[in-house]
Amino acid sequence: MARFSDEWIEKVKSAVDIVEVIGRRVELKQSGKNYLGLCPFHNEKTPSFSVNPERQFYHCFGCQTGGNVINFVMETEHLSFPEAVTKLAEEKGIEVPVISKREQKKEERREELRAANELAARYYYRNLRLPSGEPARAYLQNRGIDEDLARDFYLGYASDAWDGLVRFFAKEGFDLEIARRAGLISQGKRGFIDRFRGRLMFPICDHLGRFIGFGGRSTGEGQPKYLNTGQTEVFNKSYVLYGLNWSKDEIKAQDQVILVEGYTDLISLFAAGQKNVVASLGTAFTPAHGQLLKRFCSKAIIAFDGDSAGQKATLRGMEILHEGELEVRVATLPPGQDPDSFARTFGAARVQEWLEGAAPFREYQIDRIISQHDVETREGKLRASTELVTVLAGMSSTLERDEYISYAAQRLGVLERSLATEVREKLGIERPRPVHNRHNENLSPPEAGEELREREIIRWLLQRPGYLVDIQNQGVTASDFRQPDYRRVFVSLSENGSDPKATAIASELLSLSGPMPGWEDCLRSFLLVLTKRRLRKIEEKLSHLENDRRGFDIRMELYQLLKEYYDIFGTEPS
Ligand code: CTP
Ligand code: MN
Repeated sequence: MARFSDEWIEKVKSAVDIVEVIGRRVELKQSGKNYLGLCPFHNEKTPSFSVNPERQFYHCFGCQTGGNVINFVMETEHLSFPEAVTKLAEEKGIEVPVISKREQKKEERREELRAANELAARYYYRNLRLPSGEPARAYLQNRGIDEDLARDFYLGYASDAWDGLVRFFAKEGFDLEIARRAGLISQGKRGFIDRFRGRLMFPICDHLGRFIGFGGRSTGEGQPKYLNTGQTEVFNKSYVLYGLNWSKDEIKAQDQVILVEGYTDLISLFAAGQKNVVASLGTAFTPAHGQLLKRFCSKAIIAFDGDSAGQKATLRGMEILHEGELEVRVATLPPGQDPDSFARTFGAARVQEWLEGAAPFREYQIDRIISQHDVETREGKLRASTELVTVLAGMSSTLERDEYISYAAQRLGVLERSLATEVREKLGIERPRPVHNRHNENLSPPEAGEELREREIIRWLLQRPGYLVDIQNQGVTASDFRQPDYRRVFVSLSENGSDPKATAIASELLSLSGPMPGWEDCLRSFLLVLTKRRLRKIEEKLSHLENDRRGFDIRMELYQLLKEYYDIFGTEPS
């Protein structure tokens, strides 16, 4: 989405003062050319977060995050790049370009729909608190949702009247045609009528907290049980996650999201102290959901009913999140329970235990297949293994596949080798894998003596600072050091910094006696390991991509990776 030109982005960046923007969140003290403060991205007591106004850059020596002012706003306010840069531009009164008049018009239309939803939310909210809202209040009480919770989630009530909202909008002078486009009212035989009647209303916001739709729960026997806003210009179930606007900070803080299926599941988990929850809106998770969540965290726990009707779809949803590179675990419940009923029956402590016991997604998937067959009998075992082979063969990462072939074989009580053979047959191997050849055996972890090797490098660098250039010329960066202490010293050396912790580690290293191999040898064996590590990373990505058919972009990336791979290959030290 090349929405903004580079020049425009530069203009915004130079209009804002990074020290001022960061200073709103972090208390900064000037120290030489830089400003120092406590890092907002990790917990610390002594400041290792520095802002360089000259280079318009921030960097944390403790957790290695860094970037420019736009990155900072993205990180701290959970915004995408365009959102962050737009926000900064607006603050500075810089006009935000739009792709075209048409796009601008569209955005204005979307804004109208959000305004309609917000106004409706206010109307429903007030209704719930009027005398006529009694049935809904009784319903809420019955479900254990108290006044505070109802307020937190801005719950409301749509009365039985045919045209309550219509009349409210008319009174407010709000354009009914817009309300219709927002899916709130529809054209009846004799004028407009409300879409939601006799329902408890759950306003749905996007992750920026803008009102975009509703879920309405029938408070009686009225069908359907839930009625949601239909698709509109601002509301698409495949993109929206209920609750993200309230939970995103906690999701980010915990680096983990809990996914549930229903509005009430989310509310009850919040009440039980779990505030990193989102709910899908009666649909399976989509790749778009996965991407949205990826912006906030790297881990997900799927918490769904023991006997969910849509379990197949849910499983597919998990695959999608997993492919979206979220680390997925599954927390299951006994039949008949959903997270809402479980939380209200058993309380916060049991909820915590239940979530902690979540199984890795693949384990869950394998266990589930095994539990569906009577694996004590030969037929049962065969049928289970056929299903397992399908699942195993579908895994796109070789590492993951090997890992779970071993797990499944163990659980099923068959030889790992036999299962592996079947998986390979299913895959139609020997499929040529150009990048897997003689190097195979060298590419698996762990690498012996890694820590020692890093230490020797650092000791050399401390004694001969001039060697730093040599190693940097080889493309080595701080992240290539796995041992945090040595990484820290490396950072301090490369940035000419004055990190006291690094200094302490350095002086300890300098006081070591003991013989050391020569610099050339140290460097060579260090680079060898790095190269192998890089090759392995590329291999993993390649094996993901090989199974992907999402078109041109992927093939371009594949091409780039292969090029990179062979470049390294050609220069690999031996
Ligand atoms: N849903 C829907 N339409 C329905 C039923 C369900 O859109 N007819 C969606 C809603 O988003 C709902 C979710 O699917 O929150 C989960 O449905 P279900 O498990 O049936 O409901 P609960 O959340 O358990 O609702 P309740 O406890 O109110 O019965
Ligand atoms: Mn329920």
